[in-house]
Amino acid sequence: SRAEACTVVIFGATGDLTHRKLVPALYNLGVDGELPHGVKIVGFARRDKSDAEFREGLEALNKEVSRSGHDPELWSEYQESIQYHQSEFNDIDGYKRLAERLDAIDRERGGAGNRLFYIASAPEFFDVILENLKSVGLSSAAKGCWSRVIVEKPFGTDLATAEHLNKVVNNTFAEKDTYRIDHYLGKETAQNIMVLRFANAIFEPLWNNKYIEQVQITCAEHLGMEGGRGGYYDKAGALRDMVQNHLLQLLSLVAMEPPTDLSADGVRDEKVKVLRSLRQLDTPKAIRENVVRAQYTSGHIQDKSVVGYREEDRVDPESMTEAYVALRMHVDTWRWSGVPFYVRVGKRLPKKATEISIHFKSPPNVLFNAIPGAAAGGNVLVIRIQPDEGISLRMVSKLPGTSLRMEPVKMDFHYSTSFGKGSPEAYERLLLDAMAGDATLFARRDEVEEAWRFIDHIEKAWHESSEAPEMAEFSAGSWGPKAADELLEQDGNSWRRL
Ligand code: BG6
Repeated sequence: SRAEACTVVIFGATGDLTHRKLVPALYNLGVDGELPHGVKIVGFARRDKSDAEFREGLEALNKEVSRSGHDPELWSEYQESIQYHQSEFNDIDGYKRLAERLDAIDRERGGAGNRLFYIASAPEFFDVILENLKSVGLSSAAKGCWSRVIVEKPFGTDLATAEHLNKVVNNTFAEKDTYRIDHYLGKETAQNIMVLRFANAIFEPLWNNKYIEQVQITCAEHLGMEGGRGGYYDKAGALRDMVQNHLLQLLSLVAMEPPTDLSADGVRDEKVKVLRSLRQLDTPKAIRENVVRAQYTSGHIQDKSVVGYREEDRVDPESMTEAYVALRMHVDTWRWSGVPFYVRVGKRLPKKATEISIHFKSPPNVLFNAIPGAAAGGNVLVIRIQPDEGISLRMVSKLPGTSLRMEPVKMDFHYSTSFGKGSPEAYERLLLDAMAGDATLFARRDEVEEAWRFIDHIEKAWHESSEAPEMAEFSAGSWGPKAADELLEQDGNSWRRL
């Protein structure tokens, strides 16, 4: 499938996402010659701004974040394709003017055109934007053209709001034209999970409860609530912000069965089965036993002292929102029966690192049990999602020398050295896929709802149950609360050291 020229309309165009991710992504696609000729960008937002002011702000950020650097000449050409459209989100007149503007752009390009609506506003405007697009007729495409929508996160705040949003979206756009973004799926290393599993003969035969003892997924960030993020985050928390979407998506990719083909539905059919097979943590007891929530207290990150979560800008000083969560999960399928999936995610951990580790069972303990180092243990396959993207396999080896001693060694593949060039940013791949009509790397309606079903029980127990578990604490810059270590110790396991 090939990306086709279109006009990209970004709602919430004055926001951070547009400046840091979307516009630089389109710029870099252009630099790499991947962007179809004739793509135009219209930024829709409430603030009063001229095209020139809008472009200036975008350029300043592009200079800062662009993957391939910033070439003033290329930029000045690229910015010609960018316009600013001022309107309130609930002003129908603004959408009528938008329709006229898009028609004018199409005429200039010659004929009717494709439109890609990117909803990146604050979530309370998602509904009204969709409804207004529909009432001015922008959600239906001209003959021979397409009209698609990308919906940013958060996709609802619980199952009921996600179902409602799905209704509004699908009342406006067909499901095949709906692209629910989860930028983790656009990461090179996440896409490689299926390739690793299904294009190599040596892993898949072992990829089950016979040979795998446990799976760990860690998503650590050193950042806290910089840049006013606390306002949003304190209402969401780690479970909604990261687990409902990114972490459950990664888990689905690790646990899914081989799909019948690589079509969007082929792949998503298998992923949603994993989500449906999650053992629901639906009693206060199950949640107390399997989920740890925590906030950070003040501490040090890379020698800088930082405040605790409750002291952060725009966070309630009595907040009961988790900035860290660890879970023991089970995928109740034939393949995974009895294998724990440990998932942890948090802010203000020592560093930024996302990785998946597959811990294989030890071989029968009959041959080397008396040999020094034999206890060092089993094989671990580590998929480094970011940074230092790559895959490593830990093995046990004989230590060179005249006596038999054993030590773990590592086979290590790094994207940077194997392939030389950097990977495109997640948003680049995803924007291109949406322009090509390929929804494989976007979440389908049922995936989003199944993920919320799992999350809802936990949120409810935390915030409504009288038997809610405590909020644990850890100092900023440490690897999370003691309770999270104990969660694994109960099973005789421990978190992999990153
Ligand atoms: C976002 C979350 O979806 O992902 C943020 O809202 C988080 O809280 C971010 O920081 C992490 O993304 P990445 O690509 O930097 O790992």
